[in-house]
Amino acid sequence: MISLTVNGAQHELDVAPEMPLLWVLRDELGLTGPKFGCGVAQCGCCTVHVGNQAVRSCSVPVGSVAGQRITTIEALGSPDALHPLQQAWIDEQVPQCGYCQPGQLMAISGLLHKNPHPTSDDLAAAISNICRCGTYDRIRTAVARATSSAANQS
Ligand code: FES
Ligand code: FES
Repeated sequence: MISLTVNGAQHELDVAPEMPLLWVLRDELGLTGPKFGCGVAQCGCCTVHVGNQAVRSCSVPVGSVAGQRITTIEALGSPDALHPLQQAWIDEQVPQCGYCQPGQLMAISGLLHKNPHPTSDDLAAAISNICRCGTYDRIRTAVARATSSAANQS
């Protein structure tokens, strides 16, 4: 049995330790926000947080994160209390098809734990998530909006 805390809930799971975390989240726990794209840690659409660290869950064996705190897009914010990035995504109408966006939000929110006010260069250096719809400009604008409004509140 593998013990995981996902979005604040404790789970004891009868799964093989080498099973990718993404499959556990989607197939065992029904959390379908993290998406499958490449399966080889290249595209980023499966990104979740382990602690405050963004990881590509398709390539993380669940046994390696046993006992750790996992957060998926489902718990980044809530309808009543959106994460500042989520509000900025709405304000800037970032998504097109939307498929990559959970991963984009989790990757960038992970970066904000380390760097609350990333420049465009910081984003380019730290975020390699792929968007086939090419929403990169709107993502940069939305991150600037979210981080400047956070700065205005602090
Ligand atoms: S599905 Fe995990 S990085 Fe592409
Ligand atoms: S919004 Fe379509 S892949 Fe990014």
